Amino acid sequence: MKAIVYNRYGPPDVLRKEEIDTPVPKDDEVLVRIRAASVNPYDWHLVRGLPYLVRMSGIRKPKNTSVGVDLAGIIESVGHDVTQFQIGDEVFGLGAGSCAEFACSSIMQLAHKPSDISFDAAAAVPVAAITALQGLQSDGELQPGVKVLINGAAGGVGTFAVQIAKSFGAEVTGVCSTKNLDLVRSLGADRVIDYTTEDFTREGIRYDLILDTVGNHSVWAFRRALTPKGTLRLVGGGGGKLFGPLGLMLKALIVSPLVSQHFTLVGAKVTTERLLVLSALIESKQVTPVIDRTYKLEETAEALRYLETGHARGKVVIVV
Ligand SMILES: NC(=O)c1ccc[n+]([C@@H]2O[C@H](COP(=O)([O-])OP(=O)(O)OC[C@H]3O[C@@H](n4cnc5c(N)ncnc54)[C@H](OP(=O)(O)O)[C@@H]3O)[C@@H](O)[C@H]2O)c1
Repeated sequence: MKAIVYNRYGPPDVLRKEEIDTPVPKDDEVLVRIRAASVNPYDWHLVRGLPYLVRMSGIRKPKNTSVGVDLAGIIESVGHDVTQFQIGDEVFGLGAGSCAEFACSSIMQLAHKPSDISFDAAAAVPVAAITALQGLQSDGELQPGVKVLINGAAGGVGTFAVQIAKSFGAEVTGVCSTKNLDLVRSLGADRVIDYTTEDFTREGIRYDLILDTVGNHSVWAFRRALTPKGTLRLVGGGGGKLFGPLGLMLKALIVSPLVSQHFTLVGAKVTTERLLVLSALIESKQVTPVIDRTYKLEETAEALRYLETGHARGKVVIVV
């Protein structure tokens, strides 16, 4: 099969489209014929080997040479123990090396594709939307009227977060740049803040929940923008070459027990259960994946180059 691979760390130019063996599903896996994959910042971090922390599984060169995890496609074959899925089913979820013609996926990280969206749209969902869902709802705090601020509202995670928060009846403020104000408003945000002219941590308004995907404020600045019992959830972004966003995250974890507010981290865990929650939101039209650009499989390097500018509007999708 054709797949995008890389054998050394570096900029997206290190990616090659090569002929490799088609993977064979384990007993609890299915083989998916990929129709679309989506890329996440995680993918370009792995390709560059930056921050260095991501090199834990291969210090000098990558051990895992495939690219992509988000996928949507059609089941080609099923493992011995699989009963929930059949050959020909249309699915979406997680599978290592999804920038390829085929990838294997565990049945614990897969669900049937929402009926009325395209494969491109379904592939945009798994990591970004589940990160948003976990970031907003881990402790069930998203109730009607709760004041939520999403920093990075125009990105892959942010565009889902705005819609998910609205679907729970929250009062949503989205932070993005000037060119994306209309987009974020159109997703349902009650209020938008242009970060090029305003700093939400200095405007005197306090939020019950802040979901941060950018990592460009200090813990103390976030505190100013939170209600006394408010929650900050850090998703990622920012940081240096060595530890990436971990510096800010560690500070937040150290400070949290010392203050009245609650600071936590989000580590996306894609599960069938969460995919089904998102499926229901998509089928009821409360959430619609926002696709910025689509690229062909052989253009995956270009897709990653675009994504690493840090200014994608919604998701970047690879059509296979
Ligand atoms: N913890 C996890 O499990 C997990 C899961 C997924 C993602 N992540 C991390 O979360 C971060 C975001 O992911 P993503 O997929 O949403 O990335 P993305 O699609 O690349 O989104 C980047 C967005 O950030 C916005 N942005 C840039 N600078 C900003 C600023 N100063 N203030 C507000 N918004 C700003 C951009 O909007 P403008 O163009 O308007 O500037 C753009 O829309 C990444 O660091 C990623 O690695 C973590």
